[in-house]
Amino acid sequence: MRFDVLTLFPGIFEGYLAESLLKEAMDRGLIEVNLYNMRDWANDKHNTMDDRPFGGGPGMVLKVDRVVPCVEAVQSYAPRPGRVLMMTPQGRPLTQRIVEELAQEERLLLLCGRYEGFDQRVVDILQPDEISIGDYVLNGGEVAAAVIIDSVMRLIPGVLGDENSAVVDSFSSGNRLLEEDQYTRPREYRGLAVPEILLSGDHGLIEKWREANRLDKTFLRRPDLLDDEPSGY
Ligand code: ADE
Repeated sequence: MRFDVLTLFPGIFEGYLAESLLKEAMDRGLIEVNLYNMRDWANDKHNTMDDRPFGGGPGMVLKVDRVVPCVEAVQSYAPRPGRVLMMTPQGRPLTQRIVEELAQEERLLLLCGRYEGFDQRVVDILQPDEISIGDYVLNGGEVAAAVIIDSVMRLIPGVLGDENSAVVDSFSSGNRLLEEDQYTRPREYRGLAVPEILLSGDHGLIEKWREANRLDKTFLRRPDLLDDEPSGY
């Protein structure tokens, strides 16, 4: 799967891409992540990417005549155009269901904004899928794009060692429960002991305990997930 990230700050991604599962997946050719600096499409001598909003007001707006040519150029770098995602707090809230849908794509373009956002004509022309990672405002779309790459890549076959491990994740289709409490050695720490059942070796009992633990936890922390039609599913 190919991710093309369009940003004014490609350096934000460099450390993240150089570590752990993501690096391994790239080394193994399972995913490809390309970073493009949108400023390379600023063709004036000051490399201007933004301007003051018409009608006044605070902040700056990313210019349509810089962003649209940039996206069109990047689209032409592969045989088939990718689905364009725009990171914005005005977008539809990201859920595991959307992540599963995105993992079916061959290629995603992630458009990261800064300042007050994009000229509306960027949206009118490109008709991107506008995505928010939550009801809070980030300094830019880069962290949101990293969240998308991170959550989508785990679902690509071969990326996780154990094929099942993403299937049983909380929020994945078919699992609306939070995960159960986990323990490892030592058996006791500062007077806190591991639940006896987990040491019993009785797998039937252990599975019952885990199921009850998942249900209790979900009921207490996220009762909305137990609704007939929980939001985001
Ligand atoms: N850019 C700024 N805030 C954002 C958010 N919450 N989600 C996605 N992109 C953003």
